[in-house]
Amino acid sequence: MRKVVIHRPGGYDRLCIEEHPDLSPGPGEVLVEVEAVGINYADCVTRMGLYASAKHYVGFPITPGFEVAGRVAAAGQGVTDLQPGTEVMALTRFNGYATQVVVKREQVFVKPAGLSVPQAAGFAAVFLTAWFGLFELAHPRAGDRLLVHSAAGGVGGALVQLGRIAGCKVVGVVGASHKVDAVRQMGAEAVIDKASEDLWTAAERVSPEGYDVILDANGVATLKQSYRHLAPVGKLVVYGFHSMLPRQGGRPNRLRLLWDYYRTPRFNPFSLTTRNRSVLGFNLSFLFDRSELLREAMDQLLRWVEDGSIQPLAVHTYPFEQVAQAHRDLESGQTVGKLVLIP
Ligand SMILES: NC(=O)c1ccc[n+]([C@@H]2O[C@H](COP(=O)([O-])OP(=O)(O)OC[C@H]3O[C@@H](n4cnc5c(N)ncnc54)[C@H](OP(=O)(O)O)[C@@H]3O)[C@@H](O)[C@H]2O)c1
Repeated sequence: MRKVVIHRPGGYDRLCIEEHPDLSPGPGEVLVEVEAVGINYADCVTRMGLYASAKHYVGFPITPGFEVAGRVAAAGQGVTDLQPGTEVMALTRFNGYATQVVVKREQVFVKPAGLSVPQAAGFAAVFLTAWFGLFELAHPRAGDRLLVHSAAGGVGGALVQLGRIAGCKVVGVVGASHKVDAVRQMGAEAVIDKASEDLWTAAERVSPEGYDVILDANGVATLKQSYRHLAPVGKLVVYGFHSMLPRQGGRPNRLRLLWDYYRTPRFNPFSLTTRNRSVLGFNLSFLFDRSELLREAMDQLLRWVEDGSIQPLAVHTYPFEQVAQAHRDLESGQTVGKLVLIP
């Protein structure tokens, strides 16, 4: 099998493609022959050596990758409901950038006909993240006003669609004009293009009463204002900090990281209480053991794919050998939808 191995944290040159012995599944596990790999921003953060769950579960060397699609190659002892050859998608806590993965049965889902293999590879991590933030944490009601930052990206596109399905009025925020149409097509009622207007002036114009839910993975760049723009009983869901990281070069600036860490707002419980606002946070990669939760969410998400409520995200594919270019492009902040590696 071939896989991408990162031996030490750093820039794009740390992504090495290596040959390793083939894998075999243990009891309760499934061996998947990988045909496509979803790329997530977290993979870039892992490469930089800054991803908490990568440090917690693996360390270095590490093979990044949270999601793949392909075919069942073999099922381990006790797995009787997946036959070799079945087209599947799987969640992987690391090790996804490979031609083979072994995962627990609970992390494998039969691929719906409505998704191509690359679309399936880029589905699970972003839609489960969006699901968790929206339905497990924020619990929006129909008619609620949602503000989704980075709305044209992987998680952002999933959030826009799930917000629309929940009957909310979704306002998407993007950092470049070429992303606006994609966000509208996914169901946003309004799109704020930060490149052509001031974000918060526009956010106030679109919803003068504030927002019931704001989903923010920017971190330091917007968190304070996101909190300020909550309506009473509003919820700020924090799930990433990408504005601390560089858009080019691939290596974080340690001084800037430290500065941004100290500048990141801390929320005061007295103020939360009197102002009726909540701040919620989560990281899905620490929740892979909650298999009942993942299964319930995936079952519903895949029903929405099948009945056409969810549109597959736009996918841009890269051959395995161009993994460095894929990371470079994702970090540039210019991409729309999902980037997918074809090994
Ligand atoms: N907590 C969790 O469980 C969880 C799970 C998955 C992902 N995440 C987080 O969700 C976010 C999105 O992940 P994704 O894989 O779907 O990526 P993505 O949204 O497809 O791409 C990242 C987007 O973030 C914005 N961005 C990138 N670098 C930036 C920078 N240095 N400063 C400001 N904005 C920047 C850009 O959009 P705009 O310029 O249009 O804003 C860019 O297109 C990431 O922060 C990721 O870590 C969290």
